[in-house]
Amino acid sequence: MKPYNGNLLQKIKEFKLERNAIILAHNYQREEIQQVADFVGDSLELSRKAADSDAEVIVFCGVRFMAEVAAILAPEKTVLLPDHHAGCSLAAMVSVADLRQKKKEHPRAAVVAYVNSPAAVKAECDICVTSSNAVAVVNSLAAEEIIFVPDKNLGSYVAKQTGKKVILWDGYCATHHCVTGEDVANARRADPRALVMVHPECRPEVVAAADYSLSTGQMFKLARETENETIIVGTETGVLPRLRQENPEKNFLPLSPKMVCPDMKLVTLIKLLLALVKMRTPVEVPAEISRPARRALERMLAVV
Ligand code: 13P
Repeated sequence: MKPYNGNLLQKIKEFKLERNAIILAHNYQREEIQQVADFVGDSLELSRKAADSDAEVIVFCGVRFMAEVAAILAPEKTVLLPDHHAGCSLAAMVSVADLRQKKKEHPRAAVVAYVNSPAAVKAECDICVTSSNAVAVVNSLAAEEIIFVPDKNLGSYVAKQTGKKVILWDGYCATHHCVTGEDVANARRADPRALVMVHPECRPEVVAAADYSLSTGQMFKLARETENETIIVGTETGVLPRLRQENPEKNFLPLSPKMVCPDMKLVTLIKLLLALVKMRTPVEVPAEISRPARRALERMLAVV
């Protein structure tokens, strides 16, 4: 590592102590951000960590909806998003007005929000899910009819796994939606013995062609446990450096090199340092949104 980075890392450590801060990073963050973080995980793991931490400041290296979840679950803490432009194009595909209209059309349906949604949308929902618990959470509901926002691919997966009637929203994650069944077929042709694991945000044809559909956290677990030597990874490529580092005897290949989330890559070491020095950018959720959104999140956390 260059000395410049060494200085940067030292400064980050100093300011982190001074601010009584914890650095949380999503599995898609740049390698150097994952290395400097106190905790790296998937959406569910990060939500729990934010709620349980006794730090005064949470620097959330991820995207806005994740920082909002931290602010909702830990209202007494200051939550900072190092780059305030780090949004999520999937979360932006659902609005409160459109969801209210859909609820009118299906008054008996339970409303389930994927965490990749704005806080104001969570406030309109009965319960939240992440990719790691969506099936269990939907199975725990008495309702047989579900409005699922905003990811149609995860919604389809949930419908298939639970057998419930799921009213799908026309949203998708561009990073996951760009891969096709053909990409899986090509990867299998290249190495027929490889294990293929994909994220449930991928198209149904991709999920059907894969061996496993998993959250990013579950991918790390499977990577440790499987005896397969080659693993094709169908999610954002930010997971690859740590998968390789934790499992040096195994070979990890991206399902497609196109699977890069531009928002997740906005956070850099210098922005992380500036977040700590200048206490920016605070993410706050107004109480009238935070209260009902918190109910939906806590209901989820009570299930799994
Ligand atoms: P995970 O909860 O599986 O980490 O997924 C988060 C996400 O945003 C996927 O695009």
